[in-house]
Amino acid sequence: MKLLNLGCGTQFHPDWTNIDFISTGEGVLAHNLLKGIPYPDSFFDGVYHSHLLEHFSKSDGANLINECYRVLKPNGIIRIAIPDLEQIARNYLNNLAGALAKDSEAALNYEWIMLEMYDQTVRNQGGGEMANYLFRKDIPNKSYVFNRIGDEARKLHEVYLRSTLKQTNLVKPTLKLRLKTFIHQSYKTLINKFLYPLNPQGFETLKTNREANRIGKFRLSGEVHQWMYDRYSLSVLLNKYNFRSIKVVSAFESDLPNWESYQLDSKEGIVRKPDSLFMEATK
Ligand SMILES: C[S@@+](CC[C@H](N)C(=O)[O-])C[C@H]1O[C@@H](n2cnc3c(N)ncnc32)[C@H](O)[C@@H]1O
Repeated sequence: MKLLNLGCGTQFHPDWTNIDFISTGEGVLAHNLLKGIPYPDSFFDGVYHSHLLEHFSKSDGANLINECYRVLKPNGIIRIAIPDLEQIARNYLNNLAGALAKDSEAALNYEWIMLEMYDQTVRNQGGGEMANYLFRKDIPNKSYVFNRIGDEARKLHEVYLRSTLKQTNLVKPTLKLRLKTFIHQSYKTLINKFLYPLNPQGFETLKTNREANRIGKFRLSGEVHQWMYDRYSLSVLLNKYNFRSIKVVSAFESDLPNWESYQLDSKEGIVRKPDSLFMEATK
């Protein structure tokens, strides 16, 4: 079986051909999928991508699905895992109703679901407001959040707890760090106190351009969501590119033989990304 995992991140299996922007491990091919899939027609028996399609604009996403069709052999299987817009919208409406009825738990959950819906799309820096929500000692609605996005949230929260522990145990900063801080502070003083007054307008333009450049680079980095799907719109898209037998499946079910053994959507019976819609279709 020839199997392809696109936008694998750190979730890859050695039996698969794995691709991401940058190589995230041994055997992971670095490639920008906006340029298409670098394999010939009718090459793979299965193509899988998890939480990748929503990072493409609507039209780039359509091109990706078309590319998946091209590289699949006849009767090959496409499997897609993607944040489920329908479930997000249902959660939003339920929590909104609860929050309006002064249910304090619903109000907290409302805050979280707004982040799932919008922060992932509008953020201009890594992690966005979602990371701020998870980077605190006590998350008031921890079980709701962890049930929604699973291990991802748990891991981010643990990173935060470990980093605060490190900070409280912090020993003296190294000489290298002190030197770096000194150079950075001196550079800022030189600009702000002496050079800025010489050409304030020029410096403001420079700052604005730098910020625009930073935001642009970040938004092209593949982190933000550029479109969202539900079981209806994803079926329509798959159908448009000639896929057939389109169906919603669970994290554990698949027409790909031995699916669970690859541990891509689940591990030891636990769904990795519970906020997902899982769909499969055949070429
Ligand atoms: C949310 S992560 C999902 C990672 C993994 N598939 C999973 O389920 O955990 C999205 C991944 O898609 C990758 N990605 C986004 N746009 C890409 C592109 N144009 N080409 C290659 N990889 C891309 C990102 O680098 C990132 O690793």
